[in-house]
Amino acid sequence: MSTELIKCENVSFSYDSLSVIRDLSFSVSSGDYLCIVGENGSGKSTLTKGILGLKSPTKGKIVKSPELRSDDVGYLPQQTPAQKDFPASVFEVVISGRLNSRGLRPFYSKKDKMMAHDNIRRLGIENLMYRSYRDLSGGQQQRVLLARALCAGKKLLILDEPVTGLDPIVTEEMYRLILELNRKEGISIIMVSHDITSAAKYADHILHLNFEKSFFGTTEDYIKSPMGRYFFSEEK
Ligand SMILES: Nc1ncnc2c1ncn2[C@@H]1O[C@H](COP(=O)(O)OP(=O)(O)OP(=O)(O)O)[C@@H](O)[C@H]1O
Ligand SMILES: [Mg+2]
Repeated sequence: MSTELIKCENVSFSYDSLSVIRDLSFSVSSGDYLCIVGENGSGKSTLTKGILGLKSPTKGKIVKSPELRSDDVGYLPQQTPAQKDFPASVFEVVISGRLNSRGLRPFYSKKDKMMAHDNIRRLGIENLMYRSYRDLSGGQQQRVLLARALCAGKKLLILDEPVTGLDPIVTEEMYRLILELNRKEGISIIMVSHDITSAAKYADHILHLNFEKSFFGTTEDYIKSPMGRYFFSEEK
């Protein structure tokens, strides 16, 4: 049986006087694959930060299941040019996903190192392990960041635009990998994306953020909704 991992009840977010999200309610249960879509500036990244506890809602509340500890959650942040220039080796970037779980221990444990190696293997980036992260291509960097997120989270992955800027083949590979993590390993996924077609293909729930009126529901209901119909009829 699936349990509710995260429940957002009537949440609003703002930056000073700028109101970004208003009165939003939705929930994510174990095993869910939720895609968050919406135009630039609609608040997708703000919401992921809210779920991670990095930003507090101005109204409403975000309830997390006691089952979901902070070190169960892996996060792949939206990439900025500065982050692409991060001066560390691939192995260092991947193992830094263990920082949250390491607590006050000054060094990484054997288990941390094993997890980093396992996830490097899982994403097929063994050949990049000792390369400098900043010298990699965008697609290689995204794989490294997914391996890093996997080192942190065993139950929930929050991925903010993991495929943006990748070529179509690497994009499909990333989608396949994420779907496999969801279906085979039961990891819940919250993925921010601008690719509504792929969101509808892979996710079982959609949250479409819109300042006027957001949509949350199953993918099936989304496609039938006025918002979904608008996007899907545009494509033809
Ligand atoms: N740290 C901040 N301080 C002030 N305003 C911010 C901050 N971060 C985001 N905003 C503003 O909040 C709004 C929502 O931003 P957010 O990054 O959540 O949007 P988004 O949906 O992720 O957009 P994108 O698709 O471009 O990534 C925007 O108008 C943005 O300018
Ligand atoms: Mg964003």
